[in-house]
Amino acid sequence: MNQDALKQAVAQAALAYVPEGEIIGVGTGSTANFFIDGLAAMKDRIVGAVASSEASAQRLAGHGIRLFDLNEVDALSVYVDGADEIDAGFAMIKGGGAALTREKIVASVAQRFVCIADASKLVEVLGRFPLPVEVIPLARAQVARELQALGGRPVWREGVVTDNGNVILDVHGLEIRDPVMLESLLNQIVGVVTNGLFARRPADVLLLGTAQGVQQRVRGG
Ligand code: 5RP
Repeated sequence: MNQDALKQAVAQAALAYVPEGEIIGVGTGSTANFFIDGLAAMKDRIVGAVASSEASAQRLAGHGIRLFDLNEVDALSVYVDGADEIDAGFAMIKGGGAALTREKIVASVAQRFVCIADASKLVEVLGRFPLPVEVIPLARAQVARELQALGGRPVWREGVVTDNGNVILDVHGLEIRDPVMLESLLNQIVGVVTNGLFARRPADVLLLGTAQGVQQRVRGG
């Protein structure tokens, strides 16, 4: 099975987590796109979706799925999204698609985060995938200096502007042994909007696509 087939398999499996008659949170990226396409087949059984990016919003709307602004919604029972890396405690690196800020916001409202990922995303220690950090444009050079002082090698993702009008620094060379601590630390840097560590609010369920099939893992289970 190639990586796309694994992504498609986990996206399909995630449909079982979609509650009928509700609004659900939807992530961003190629795995999330497979999920959105699968959701189209059951669109009459949900009320609609809150999207974590303009790209996902467009794809959802293209399937005729009703979109809701997060401000119109009190609670979401489920949020489904991919990850760039995930560890055994279900802490993740996200933001490869530059949607980390809205992803983290929508995920924070959801009772259950279902991560859909192919087996290549499961790692022992986070950090081989460069950690995305969304930064206010004016602060880019200063934040880069701060990230360097913390031992990282920030690289400006040139040409990319986030849905929020900001820029992304991808931080290479980190070996993230304490993702909760690093997530909090990076949040303290003036000019940082969000960092791509999802450790303080990790996933609750991991649907992992392997050559042997989709494994369902529950945090703490
Ligand atoms: C986008 C993300 C994605 O979830 C992450 O990059 C995984 O993407 P893909 O499913 O394409 O491998 O965080 O900002």
